[in-house]
Amino acid sequence: MLKKILKIKKSKSKKKLVCLTAYSKSLSKILDKHCDIILLGDSVATAFYGMENTQQIDMKTMINHANSVKKSIKKSTFVFDMPHNTYRNVYDAKKNAKKIIKITKCDAIKIESNGKNFNIIKSLVSSGIQVMGHIGFTPQFKKNFKIQGQKTNDQNKLINEAKMIEKAGAFSIVLECIAKKTAEKITRSVKIPTIGIGSSNFCDGQILVTDDLLGLSGFYPKFVKKYANLENIIENAVRKFKKDVRNKNFPTNLNAY
Ligand code: KIV
Repeated sequence: MLKKILKIKKSKSKKKLVCLTAYSKSLSKILDKHCDIILLGDSVATAFYGMENTQQIDMKTMINHANSVKKSIKKSTFVFDMPHNTYRNVYDAKKNAKKIIKITKCDAIKIESNGKNFNIIKSLVSSGIQVMGHIGFTPQFKKNFKIQGQKTNDQNKLINEAKMIEKAGAFSIVLECIAKKTAEKITRSVKIPTIGIGSSNFCDGQILVTDDLLGLSGFYPKFVKKYANLENIIENAVRKFKKDVRNKNFPTNLNAY
């Protein structure tokens, strides 16, 4: 098993994993210094392309972004989020995952769980492909947003799903928008690290969409903490540029040949 993946697995209960998304080399250059995992998420569809949902992004576009992201990754584990409809069966999943890994040199792929596709994880892992699972609110399969695992019945289903994903050989699982008590029980029920997004600090690590954390996406649900307001910072810079251009203060001799 890849050294990096083993390190992630071993971190359980020792240190909280720091994980973020990146869609370009300029961002992954900064994130690589601080993150354990960088994810080329299918959130590139909504956060970057302004698509209505993540189901609309295709594999070729994501591969192009991954090639850019990979250019700046030196130490973190790079995970590629397999887009909608690229792992409908074992054959497609293997063919597409192998192609993604060959072209992008990512360390692992992530697939969303539909509560049934454990055999796909198992066959990917048995062909040497590292897999990150994803349960709870899984936007490729569920359209309407709802907090997951609030009722006992749903809680039990999620715990079972996480155990099945672990048994299939995944090295970690993203828990998206899962009720606190359920996220805690799932994290205690599996030996692989759980990585939460909107799923409480009981998880073994946290992931956010970087554009949300930086205040650039305009999408700030309760689980997002804005650590910067890049929208304001960029707007101020653009305003200054506009003023300089209008007033003929840019370019000066310093910027001319
Ligand atoms: O696509 C994405 O960014 C994700 C994270 C939210 C986990 O799947």
